[in-house]
Amino acid sequence: MNFGLTEEQQMVKDQVTRFAETQIKPIAAELDKTHRHPEEICRKLGEMGIMGVAIPTEYGGAGMDIVTYVLAMIAISKACASTGVIVSVNNSLYGFPVNSFGTDEQKKRYLTPVAGGKVEGCYALTEAGAGSDAAALACRAVLKGDKYIVNGTKRFITNGNVARYCVLAATADPALAYKGVLNLIVDLKETKGFSVGKIEEKMGILASGTAELVFEDAEVPAANLLGKPGQGFKQMMMGLDCGRIGIGSQACGIGKAALEDALNYAKERVQFGKPISSFQAVQFKLADMATELEAAELLLLRAAWMEDKGLDYEKESAMAKMYASDVAMKAAIEGVQIFGGYGYCKEYPAERHMRDAKICQIYEGTNEIQRMVIARKLLGAR
Ligand code: CAA
Repeated sequence: MNFGLTEEQQMVKDQVTRFAETQIKPIAAELDKTHRHPEEICRKLGEMGIMGVAIPTEYGGAGMDIVTYVLAMIAISKACASTGVIVSVNNSLYGFPVNSFGTDEQKKRYLTPVAGGKVEGCYALTEAGAGSDAAALACRAVLKGDKYIVNGTKRFITNGNVARYCVLAATADPALAYKGVLNLIVDLKETKGFSVGKIEEKMGILASGTAELVFEDAEVPAANLLGKPGQGFKQMMMGLDCGRIGIGSQACGIGKAALEDALNYAKERVQFGKPISSFQAVQFKLADMATELEAAELLLLRAAWMEDKGLDYEKESAMAKMYASDVAMKAAIEGVQIFGGYGYCKEYPAERHMRDAKICQIYEGTNEIQRMVIARKLLGAR
């Protein structure tokens, strides 16, 4: 067993950490306050290969591995959770299905600009009536000649308001249940009948846009279908397996930020004539936060390593996402507690970490769904 990183993994980790600490962290509070999409940061991360870490270089990516993706995601999310989710969706939810199931032509045209960080991608799965029950899609794609005619509305789509391209999950026929699901690549700027609907007002990750995508008799070339009809649901599940590693890493980064801030504050804050870090009540909180976040990181790296090795990592990615987001939420709450009254005010980032951490227990499958996925694997039910 080897816990060490390769030279390349360590180099990318150091480079991304430096960039995140000097270019992203200083503007994170402003991004949160203004809800501004960090356009310039995304372009720079693109130049560094981080918008398509594990996508082959021939399709615009960096050609590195998922372990490196985890390291980069943790470093970025520690500086700014909103930037973290933008990067995760680009890499996993858009990049993974197009790279894994797309044809060479589809990849050249639709993956290269996204993996190279020139434009954003998104994945449109969720609908008003299809959240945890991902097969219950009402958005319909009907084949007419050489086009799919798409009608329906997608909700809560991360990057939906800024993305150029989208992988759209739709159903050919709701009566077919999950067997009717198909994934289409949609050029959101060139598709008549498509519009961006409501932009959600959220609790956290405020610099990441969450939008409604509306399709009204939208025409999508049949050539943009990923794989074959009937394969869409499995493609979606496999994309989510990969995406959950990204979101777990986002959570781990947020938790590490909460820990670092609380640790620094505890050393400076004096009460009863001593820094509060000298009190065991505070020390125990810090010890638990650090231990749980390191365990989360190990779970994430194991799931990533398994994906890199081509092993079945469905259970491991669900475990890593669930555990990392639960302990990140706990760390963020304890971080606020250590800051006391200051933690509840916007003067310090502790309250932002708490708002940002919460979504990681909800999106890319609620933690209740993760437990279901894990239990089904344990019981041999899948
Ligand atoms: N890999 C490959 N195939 C899989 C699979 C996987 N991980 N999981 C299921 N399948 C296959 C099954 O084998 C089955 O195929 P067969 O009949 O041929 O065996 C088929 O898919 C149907 O599987 P299930 O019966 O298990 O499907 P289900 O309806 O019970 O749903 C579920 C399973 C795990 C609950 C799934 O619906 C799910 O993951 N729900 C959560 C949805 C989710 O994560 N949404 C996130 C939205 S995106 C987002 O949040 C992004 C963001 O904002 C940042």
